[in-house]
Amino acid sequence: MKFLAPLLLLLVFAYATQDAPPYGPSQFSNIGTINDLTVTNPSDLFSGGTITIDGVSMVIPNNSYVTLPSISVMWPELFVGGAPQLPQFGAPGVSWEATVYGNRIGDAYVVALIYITQSSVRIIQGFINAIDLGTGEFWVAGTSATPGSGIRARLNDPVGRYGLEYLDHPLWTVDAESPSVTAATGFPLCIPRYSNGTDDPLCPLKNRVINGGVPTFIQFKTAATRSTTDPDPNVMAPLMVGDYVTINGVEVGDGLLAVYSLVANLGLYTAPRETPAYIRVEDARIGVPAPANAELGETRAVAFTTDPSTPMQFYAIDVDPCTGIETERDLQLAQPFSQNAGDIWGKALFRLGKVNTRPMTKNVGFRLLTGTSTTANGLKAGIYIQPVFLFIFPELLVFGDEMFPFEFGDFPFLAQGSGPFIEALPGPTIEATMPLVGQLSPWPGATAPGTTTCAVVTPSATIPTDSTTLMTVTSTSSTAATTTAVTQRDTVTILSVTEDKGQGTIRYTITAISSHNTDPLPTLTATGTGVNPLGQSEMTSLGGGNYILDVAVKHGLETITVTSSHGGQMTLTVL
Ligand SMILES: *[C@@H]1O[C@H](CO)[C@@H](O)[C@H](O)[C@H]1NC(C)=O
Ligand SMILES: *[C@@H]1O[C@H](CO)[C@@H](O)[C@H](O)[C@H]1NC(C)=O
Repeated sequence: MKFLAPLLLLLVFAYATQDAPPYGPSQFSNIGTINDLTVTNPSDLFSGGTITIDGVSMVIPNNSYVTLPSISVMWPELFVGGAPQLPQFGAPGVSWEATVYGNRIGDAYVVALIYITQSSVRIIQGFINAIDLGTGEFWVAGTSATPGSGIRARLNDPVGRYGLEYLDHPLWTVDAESPSVTAATGFPLCIPRYSNGTDDPLCPLKNRVINGGVPTFIQFKTAATRSTTDPDPNVMAPLMVGDYVTINGVEVGDGLLAVYSLVANLGLYTAPRETPAYIRVEDARIGVPAPANAELGETRAVAFTTDPSTPMQFYAIDVDPCTGIETERDLQLAQPFSQNAGDIWGKALFRLGKVNTRPMTKNVGFRLLTGTSTTANGLKAGIYIQPVFLFIFPELLVFGDEMFPFEFGDFPFLAQGSGPFIEALPGPTIEATMPLVGQLSPWPGATAPGTTTCAVVTPSATIPTDSTTLMTVTSTSSTAATTTAVTQRDTVTILSVTEDKGQGTIRYTITAISSHNTDPLPTLTATGTGVNPLGQSEMTSLGGGNYILDVAVKHGLETITVTSSHGGQMTLTVL
């Protein structure tokens, strides 16, 4: 053994050494198992950190978003008290994986884009052999004659969109806006919430059980010919024992798979050219602009719809770095395949080829030309928004040329930021004042691009121009609160509530006025009711008794109440 050390030394010195990489910056796109991940400053929402993937240690810059299967969150949102919220992280047989794109600056791997999921290649297909309506659990891929055999699964649904709520691991949620629990056509599916024999009105049996049978193909009738007992496309269709499903999820321990996506082999088609109609996106990839010595990748997408008669648009979503206002940029319009067209009925195929789709966007959308609507369950129909899960980065035309750095200046959401931070985690948490997400720092490139200087705006200036004004109230109505501690009762008036939908969230701008407009000014707080209530949020005083609040919520509010510290109160019904 004592000869081993000199031998190793000899081997090492048999190779040339160098102090720096041969050239730089140079690109990297690594995919692999996460060994470790850290956040530098857990109390800073925009803090960066580190990640080690297959032994390679990398830098996560400040202001980094990480894309998860259904939502994107800021890097620190992955942690609670410094601990990564990756269920079963490090447990035997469980692999947490990351895909990262970035540039090597000197010897540092600086990450620009990051995607995290558990077992990225996992796909499970099989029949549902049992459903427990009491817990919402179902079993897949077991033995048909043994209900409850196979994989124990449940929908990871923190807001109860598709059935009973499941709150344990909200990062790994289903998509509660653009449905990720669907028939192959895109029609949303659910698991009934009641186990006592009562039909769940949001998940009615009539949407599957027809004339005593359970067809796997249903053509919904038109609104004009539909009776109340007919299948109703405005609400979801229940999953049934015997359904053939493809599921993906996260193992959370105790043999439970928390499912974030489910596609059932069901042909649920809505009436032609009617709303609601639904979309499911299978693939959306964007070719990233290439330097002269590299090949540009192809931009393409595949989506499905319940209404193959209606053209579907594929578009990019540009985001103003100061206001967060979204602008749609058309990429391509496609007519989905009709029945017997030699391809899948309802499939919309987008093939843009090697075109320049600069600038790169974080999200892309798909929309049916018949328009969009919000269903009784709070889902968006006729539209589907998702992060770009796959950027096709350029490749060298001649092997041996220098591995050029990726040009992240073409990604405004990395270079300029993406406007006010919007909480992606489901639930009632609201940012009353939304700080701006800025440029990645350190910048993953040789020189950081110039940033946009955002004007210091009063909150009212951030009201999106394309938003819908729900109401403008002129009458004054208020009720005095009963608390005795308050002696100066004032009159509170909600002046306006403006709603702006986008980025998987709904933004409300609420303005109100108090009759008490001299010092000491009262504090006004807003609350809201709805699927996800708005907790007490303090409004910003604009002086003179005027107040404003910008909030982003995951789901629409039903009522908004503004309460003054001087006792006044007013409630408005929004929906
Ligand atoms: C079943 O439970 C639901 C929800 O708790 C309730 O609304 C319904 O009345 C119950 N039905 C029966 C038959 O007890
Ligand atoms: C990242 O943010 C922290 C505050 O959390 C700050 O101290 C640090 O300087 C920032 N790093 C860079 C490279 O901008």
